[in-house]
Amino acid sequence: MAITDDGPIAPERIQLIPAKREEEPILANLLELYAHDFTEFLAIDLRPNGRFEYQDLSRYWRDPNHHPFLIKADGKLAGLILIRQDETVSRAEVLWDLAEFFVVRRYRRQGVGTAMAHAVWRKFSGRWQVRVMEANLPGQHFWQHAITQFTGATVESVRIERGGEYWRFFTFESKPSTSGPPPARPHR
Ligand SMILES: CC(C)(COP(=O)(O)OP(=O)(O)OC[C@H]1O[C@@H](n2cnc3c(N)ncnc32)[C@H](O)[C@@H]1OP(=O)(O)O)[C@@H](O)C(=O)NCCC(=O)NCCS
Repeated sequence: MAITDDGPIAPERIQLIPAKREEEPILANLLELYAHDFTEFLAIDLRPNGRFEYQDLSRYWRDPNHHPFLIKADGKLAGLILIRQDETVSRAEVLWDLAEFFVVRRYRRQGVGTAMAHAVWRKFSGRWQVRVMEANLPGQHFWQHAITQFTGATVESVRIERGGEYWRFFTFESKPSTSGPPPARPHR
């Protein structure tokens, strides 16, 4: 069910913008909304100051293997994406990890998430992993949809236990040869 009556947003009205160092407080604010959304699936408590306080966000500007982005729709803030290289795999292999991915409620179910996921996968070619909590069923549906559209093949997730929580891991390849703009297709 669509949350708004606005319908799909044309891809040219959605922007993926590398976030500048001075924009860190904007991302920190968005991460508060994101963390609050996640309390549906995860028992996380607020700190005494009334914030969740995302840890070590500044690493996204210190570490060249970390990449922070803002999402804008019609020039308005619509979400964020944090990307990093997974350091648990060997140095010889690059594995891109979608650390955080968030579209604000105002702009959901209008194709923003899919367009922006495809944009980052085209931007960073190579092996990708996407992790989603098993309890986050909307997230699982979304990734299934976004990855299948991107690769053109149905992707299966693997169930993994980490610290008592169950996760679904999707892995796939973003090939430089397929990294051009995707063919225009209607969102719905
Ligand atoms: C998951 C999320 C990123 C989706 O963003 P979005 O911009 O609404 O996604 P899209 O509009 O591109 O959705 C594309 C398709 O994904 C699926 N999908 C998206 N949200 C869904 C939901 N809540 N329930 C079921 N399927 C969903 C649908 O197939 C949808 O197509 P449709 O709208 O034509 O039915 C957004 O809801 C969000 O930020 N949620 C909170 C954080 C989160 O869960 N992040 C991802 C997990 S790490």
